[in-house]
Order: sequence, then C-alpha cells, then structure tokens
Amino acid sequence: MLELTGKNAIVTGGASGIGKGICLALARQGANVAIADVSEEGGKQVESEIMKNYKVRALFINCDVTKMDKVDQMVAKATETFGKVDILVNNAGWDKIELFSKFDPALWDKIIDLNYKHFLYTTRAVMPGMTERNYGRIVNIGSDAGRGGSTGEAVYSGCKGGVIAFTKTMARELARFQITVNCISPGPTHTPMTDAQRDEELAGKILAAMDKIIPLRRMAEPQDIANAVVFMASDEASYITGQTLSVSGGLTMF
Ligand SMILES: NC(=O)c1ccc[n+]([C@@H]2O[C@H](COP(=O)([O-])OP(=O)(O)OC[C@H]3O[C@@H](n4cnc5c(N)ncnc54)[C@H](O)[C@@H]3O)[C@@H](O)[C@H]2O)c1
Repeated sequence: MLELTGKNAIVTGGASGIGKGICLALARQGANVAIADVSEEGGKQVESEIMKNYKVRALFINCDVTKMDKVDQMVAKATETFGKVDILVNNAGWDKIELFSKFDPALWDKIIDLNYKHFLYTTRAVMPGMTERNYGRIVNIGSDAGRGGSTGEAVYSGCKGGVIAFTKTMARELARFQITVNCISPGPTHTPMTDAQRDEELAGKILAAMDKIIPLRRMAEPQDIANAVVFMASDEASYITGQTLSVSGGLTMF
C-alpha cells in the first residue's frame, strides 16, 4: 500500500484545490507535509486538518514561490523542521482564460513566474539535500494544456509545456542520484481556480461542456490527481522517471 511513513514532503500551493488534496493524500499515507503557500488562512487550515486526522507532522510555511530567496528560506525551514526533504510536489499555479489576441501582456510575467520559474526555484533548492542522500521524488503538476494546447491558455500552456520538458531534463540529470522526476498532468478539475473561471465568458462556456465531453463523464476531483501523485512519490514508482501522466478521465490520450 504506497507507504510513505517517515518521508517528508513539500507541496507548493498546498492551501487549496489540487494542492490541498495532495497534502491530505500524502499525510494519509504517512508522510510529514510542509504546505508552502501565500494563503495563510487556507494553509493553516490544511495544517490543522492533517494534524487532527493523521499521525504525522504538518507545517504551514507562508511563501511566495515566485521569489527565489523566499523559496530558499522555505526549503531551509522545512529541512530544519523535518531533518530532510524526500518529496517535492510543485503544484502552485494560476491562469486567466482569454484568447491570446486579447490577452494583456502585463500578465505574462505573472503567469510565467508562477507556472514555470517557481519549478526551477524549488527544484534548485531541494537538489543538494536529495543528491547528498541519493534519494528523492520530485512530482511536477503540469496540465494537459501543455501537451495538447488549450484555447484561451496560450502563455500558461507554454509554461506547462516547459514544465514537461524541464521534468525530462531533470529526470536525466538526477537519475544517477536515484532521484525520480515525473509530471502529473491534470485535465479539468473541480477546484477554486476553475470555480472562479466559470464566471468568465470564454472559460465558462468551455467548463460547462466538460461533463459531456469527458469520456468518464465528469471533471476530476482533487483526490483523483492526488492519487497519481502519491504513486509517483512512493517506492513502488522507483523505476519510473521523466514521465508525464495525464489524469483526465480519458479526455486526452497522448
Ligand atoms: N483545476 C484544474 O482544472 C487544473 C487543470 C490542469 C492543471 N491544473 C494545475 O493544478 C495546479 C493547482 O491548481 P488548482 O486548480 O488547485 O488551483 P487553486 O487556485 O485552487 O490553488 C492554487 C494554490 O496556489 C497558491 N498560490 C498561488 N500563487 C502562489 C504563490 N505565488 N506562491 C505560493 N502559493 C501560491 C494559491 O494560494 C492556492 O492555494 C496548478 O499548477 C494548475 O495549473 C489545474
């Protein structure tokens, strides 16, 4: 049973949606979890939910993951508290749905910093400890927008495509240290991010059609994505690296 007892994890964007589901799932399997997020309220709530329900440690760290120095401090804090970091889940992300012809260039950097550069900062920060111990699991949350493209998500899908390529390169570079790097690529998932997008004109139309278009006839729940993350973080997946797994109810088949 995908045992994670004694393992320590960092989950970025763990205060909400898919990230919250991942934090709870890792804790359920026995891992201690550091929740790195800018949402103090949501992060503390996930921290106390874990401590209440599972016999593991949880730690909320207020961290803007788009700032390299803050990420370094966050990883140092998690390492100091738990002793080591075994699992990194890069999950924080955000998008605004709009056709590229209408998209405000002032938003490009915000999207690139969060959906691409943050993955570089966190990976760089956990690497020394993982390579020293010859152990590590890095799971990047991509998106099927980064595999097949997605109308209204030009900048975001470019970042997610970049995350997939970054995953493969890091898998190659870190394999000799027995560190695996994989990507879980969610399809449309019920989260506060998609709930907020329902009010937008283009996104609302796309999301409304999903339950009919998806072969398994429903959007994903955060738990569906978290189940795949737990597997990639476990020892059962120790011979899998550099892979991207779509969790999309059959909507995409790459
Ligand atoms: N929901 C979907 O349909 C869907 C589909 C494909 C991929 N994804 C990906 O899944 C991941 C999670 O998405 P979600 O839908 O759960 O979103 P969400 O908005 O529900 O949660 C995102 C979390 O990230 C945190 N966050 C945002 N900016 C941050 C920052 N600068 N520093 C630290 N934390 C920050 C937020 O506070 C929030 O807790 C993202 O990478 C997203 O791109 C989501």
